[in-house]
Amino acid sequence: MDDKPAVRIITIDGPTASGKGTIASEVARKLGFHYLDSGALFRLAALSCLTQKVDLTDEAACSGVTRQMRPCFKDGKVFLGDKAVTDAIREEAVGLAASRVATMASVRTAILDLERDFCRAPGLVADGRDMGTVVFPNACLKVFLTAGAQVRAQRRYKQLIQRGISANLADLARDLQERDKRDRERAVSPTRPAPDARLLDSSDQTIEQTVRCVLDWYCALES
Ligand code: C5P
Repeated sequence: MDDKPAVRIITIDGPTASGKGTIASEVARKLGFHYLDSGALFRLAALSCLTQKVDLTDEAACSGVTRQMRPCFKDGKVFLGDKAVTDAIREEAVGLAASRVATMASVRTAILDLERDFCRAPGLVADGRDMGTVVFPNACLKVFLTAGAQVRAQRRYKQLIQRGISANLADLARDLQERDKRDRERAVSPTRPAPDARLLDSSDQTIEQTVRCVLDWYCALES
């Protein structure tokens, strides 16, 4: 009898701009799996709070807004209700606000169901901060992806410029540090590798090399 769970899950956690999104979506594409960008859900919660001018220190108000939001992911685009917010959620201000609402336990609880809804056959690749520790503890492969602080700031800078969003490298490096510190030190679901996660430092790797490494780990498990 086959005791493998019907849906195979790979989690890729790590700090801001470590390349999780790029690697996770490519691994998902190659395996024909679904893909969850959990950071987008926190960014959507933050954008909803900012749009509704909610005080970001008021946990009850922030979780109320989060519970009511109706996100939709379609053809690479992100919607809140029928409003396209694909670019708006990528603004650095929204990322910083996301890391503030992400410290709130009740906001995280509201997002948990949305995250687990992505778990569909044949499999899922989920990226975030707590995918392997909290959201999908039964994942068959857990990766904790890192890269040096300078490398991450430069990658994020390039990403923003390519999207036509103006950015300043020094400001960006400072914001990433602030965000990572808050994500690492918060009481609920801090960024950290699961005890059974494999560490992968992509500082000196190409995207292809990092994707290959994750796929090799996965295939070795499956064989
Ligand atoms: O990954 P991304 O930078 O888009 O995430 C935005 C913010 O959302 C992070 O800085 C973090 O505070 C929060 N987040 C989280 N848990 C996740 C994914 C994102 O706390 N699983």
